[in-house]
Amino acid sequence: MTEQAYGYFDDQRKEYVITSPFTPSPWINYLGNDGFYGLISNTAGGYCFYRDPKFRRLLRYRYNNVPVDCGGRYFYLKCDDEIWSVSGRPVPTELDHYECRHGLGYSRFIASKAQIRTELTCFIPLGQTAEVYRLHLSNQGEQDKTLNLFSLLEWCLWNAEDDGANFQRNLSTGEVEVDGSVLYHKTEYRERRNHYAFYGVNQPIQGFDTDRDSFLGPYRGFERPLAVEKGQAGNSIAHGWSPIASHHLELTLAAGESQTLVFVLGYVELPVEYKWQAPGIINKQPAKRMLAAFDSDEKVTAELAKLTAYWQQLLGHFHIQSPDERFNRSLNIWNQYQNMVTFNLSRSASFYESGIGRGMGFRDSNQDTIGFAHMVPERVRERILDLSATQKKDGSAYHQYQPLTKKGNANIGGNFNDDPMWMVLSTANYIKETGDFSILDARVNFDDEEGDFDHFEHLKRAFSHVVNHLGPHGLPLIGRADWNDCLNLNCFSEDPNESYQTTERGDAKVAESLMIAGQFVLYGQEFVQLCKLTERHKLADWAQQHIDLMVGAIDQHGWDGQWFLRAYDARGQKIGSQENQQGKIFIESQGFCVMAGIGLQDGRARLALDAVNQHLACEFGIMLQQPAYSDYDKYKGEISSYPPGYKENAGIFCHNNPWIIIAETLLGRGDQAYDYFSRISPAYLQDVQQLHKTEPYVYSQMIAGRDAATPGQAKNSWLSGTAAWCFYAASQYIAGIRPDYQGLRIMPCLPSHWPSLSVTRQFRGAVYQIDIANPHGLSQGVVDMQIDGEPVPGDLIPYARYRGQHKVQVRLLPPEQG
Ligand code: BGC
Ligand code: NOJ
Repeated sequence: MTEQAYGYFDDQRKEYVITSPFTPSPWINYLGNDGFYGLISNTAGGYCFYRDPKFRRLLRYRYNNVPVDCGGRYFYLKCDDEIWSVSGRPVPTELDHYECRHGLGYSRFIASKAQIRTELTCFIPLGQTAEVYRLHLSNQGEQDKTLNLFSLLEWCLWNAEDDGANFQRNLSTGEVEVDGSVLYHKTEYRERRNHYAFYGVNQPIQGFDTDRDSFLGPYRGFERPLAVEKGQAGNSIAHGWSPIASHHLELTLAAGESQTLVFVLGYVELPVEYKWQAPGIINKQPAKRMLAAFDSDEKVTAELAKLTAYWQQLLGHFHIQSPDERFNRSLNIWNQYQNMVTFNLSRSASFYESGIGRGMGFRDSNQDTIGFAHMVPERVRERILDLSATQKKDGSAYHQYQPLTKKGNANIGGNFNDDPMWMVLSTANYIKETGDFSILDARVNFDDEEGDFDHFEHLKRAFSHVVNHLGPHGLPLIGRADWNDCLNLNCFSEDPNESYQTTERGDAKVAESLMIAGQFVLYGQEFVQLCKLTERHKLADWAQQHIDLMVGAIDQHGWDGQWFLRAYDARGQKIGSQENQQGKIFIESQGFCVMAGIGLQDGRARLALDAVNQHLACEFGIMLQQPAYSDYDKYKGEISSYPPGYKENAGIFCHNNPWIIIAETLLGRGDQAYDYFSRISPAYLQDVQQLHKTEPYVYSQMIAGRDAATPGQAKNSWLSGTAAWCFYAASQYIAGIRPDYQGLRIMPCLPSHWPSLSVTRQFRGAVYQIDIANPHGLSQGVVDMQIDGEPVPGDLIPYARYRGQHKVQVRLLPPEQG
């Protein structure tokens, strides 16, 4: 049965079109690409911030409030006795037409009511610290109409955490200035802040409000402000309490007439000496310049065109044409878009991440680069070096850092023992994409050691950190946790006030991780390759010996008979074994050990993946482990704190599904890989929108597993490593277009029913048009390649020989014909 659908893809415009303001959860989009960002829901809820969603929040947003999605960029219209919102909320009036189009970097709301059609387009122009809202109104009726329009934003008092907690102070700090049509938010500007915000419109206004309670009226919510009901602003000036910015415009539209208004919400920083224009009066020059840049429809249209061209260019680096339109739309549009968002924001600000908790995660951000390096490699280089600078001299790393200060976050500290090796992945992937070996020579200090170190030294210490932290079986010590934050084997917490993430007891010298073991072998091999490519042969030999030892330890102590063990706990007992009653098999070690090549020759890899299929795969994806933990167990920690089927306790934790997808391709099982991909990829979930609940155009962190009350229901959309990994798996392992040091490799592992596949790939300045024919219905085959009509041996397009534009023709042949 097909459930009610709340929207559909418009691939032509690269938009997702939402057809109801009452989606199962707010379906959001992101605005901004670099430094100034906004979250915007399908009813214009959300907020924006400059760089740091905790310290530089412009708009107040009430997470987890009722009604949900409370606070945003609101526009109220009053015409005769009818009041409505142009984005479908917060006024609950039913619209004659509602449509939200989330596009790449903009969102558009189209509504009609009382024969007034409105089109509101919200975006952050490239390179600007401002959100621009263009409101187009037209009278489609036969009568002239007089409309009262009210805008509304509620200011956050900058520090979002303090704003939601420290009322004894912050209800006395708010300050505003009004200058014509521009409303300024200058809270705390009198003291140490050298930044303010403003909200302007390119027309004279009839009135304004800057004090929330005056605008809303006593005990009212956003859904029915008194000022709107009266059709009259109060010209209120906020002194403390809750400052807002609301314009009141009275508009007359003749029958058939249209009008366009442009609103700009801007953020300005000034050097201390230029802060004031007169005592107590803020310097408005930069705001005026910004307003002037967007004071007409034409200027806004031109900026929107730039944004579209920017995305067109970015998405041009990888474009796929397969026989499956869902696969194409996912890879060509939404997955790459989500990759940019995860790269920018790590796990900081979404509908599920409050923007005040986490900074940039070390493991998260390193992994996010693998979905983004082909798009803006310069930013990836910078990010890797920022991460490198938060590493400590012993090779461990701060688990998170704050984007504003770029300093390691002391509250959470380190000891997540998978962290260091992710930097080998990000660095190797970056160099394969760009050929830029100079990143290895970049000077970077350690967080706790000044000196003249290069980035390569950081990778070496990352590798050494694992070597120096081995447990009783010669396997890597897990520390606080490995990739699975919730497998807390050294925590033993019995106190609900303790944090699982930071509590660690004992000397942590026993609990070991097979996930880190596989990760060490996999990225250790990358490290060895980097050593060889930079003529560090002795170091390569040394590293290889440690990898060989690790492979031996996995063979001896990490195989459970049918699959790879997950861990040894602090008492030396097995986790993820036949011997266990619950948590017999885990996904992470199957993914990482097979990706590392362990068991590929002797059949164990096949057994392990078959076991995944048998025990972990379900309709909605591959569950993290089985059977779920039914009770809390202090020797396992947070994983056993979740009700069965949710999050790490046997949920489908999408991030690790692509590890299995990649592993399947290493076995050549393209049909299975594709099947797993289609279970979690949002483009395939159009028919289960109501159940799935989160946005049908982006990956979510988790889909509830078989044991849950609601299997198939997703949570935590947008900011998940799933995005980068799914793109990496689908583009590099299913489509098999894989950057390597010497060029681009063509190593597809396709669903066998695909007769062909085309990919346009920009790579180190060249453009390859790659056409792959699969005449024998294979998944994997011998690659028979011609470049510009010339046969080329092997599966590599040698970068040095083929610059510029080239046509690459590939045929997949059965081994006997290859
Ligand atoms: C969640 C994890 C998350 C961690 C981060 C846990 O509660 O279950 O998925 O990584 O918190 O702090
Ligand atoms: C979410 C975190 O962001 C990520 O770092 C972690 O690996 C997963 N949760 C699994 O626990």
